[in-house]
Amino acid sequence: MLRAGLPTSIQIIEQFREVPPVFGDEGELHQVVVNLVTNAAHAIGTAAGRITVSIWCAAEAPGLPQTRGDGPVVYLAVADTGCGMDEATLDRVFEPFFTTKEVGDGTGLGLSVVHGIVIGHGGTIAARSTPGEGSRFTLSLPPMNQHQPTVLIETAAA
Ligand SMILES: Nc1ncnc2c1ncn2[C@@H]1O[C@H](COP(=O)(O)OP(=O)(O)OP(=O)(O)O)[C@@H](O)[C@H]1O
Ligand SMILES: [Mg+2]
Repeated sequence: MLRAGLPTSIQIIEQFREVPPVFGDEGELHQVVVNLVTNAAHAIGTAAGRITVSIWCAAEAPGLPQTRGDGPVVYLAVADTGCGMDEATLDRVFEPFFTTKEVGDGTGLGLSVVHGIVIGHGGTIAARSTPGEGSRFTLSLPPMNQHQPTVLIETAAA
């Protein structure tokens, strides 16, 4: 679906490994991928470029986003060869309404929505970037067997 909406000058590379199932909302996780890939495409613009979408499962490692669980984690990364971001932009990317786009071009809500969804799934997200070289957003999600459901405790009225 995303491929059809992107210029042919952008190559999409899929690196999908086998991962355990994740407990989540399909629509919301779809939104995460759409927002990340859309940003990546904007960062590349009309130049030739690459967007690499990776999914893998691994033990939590330093330098990668952590989850609330303590076993292996499912990772999803979207990396691009676009314009990249300076430190000041990188510090604020997940802030609601933060945008560097022209008025009318972006609301600045894309990554704030992504952040909210990932946190809501018990995961975390981190971004790295080198100006002029590209950016990489990596998020972690706990596999289903480690999902910690929110427990609602109902107290009977006396
Ligand atoms: N892959 C990326 N490469 C470079 N800059 C990025 C990338 N992703 C996000 N940004 C920067 O972070 C800002 C915020 O991104 P976010 O997706 O939240 O909002 P937006 O793309 O500006 O607007 P929209 O609400 O339409 O998504 C962008 O304006 C841009 O400056
Ligand atoms: Mg966006």
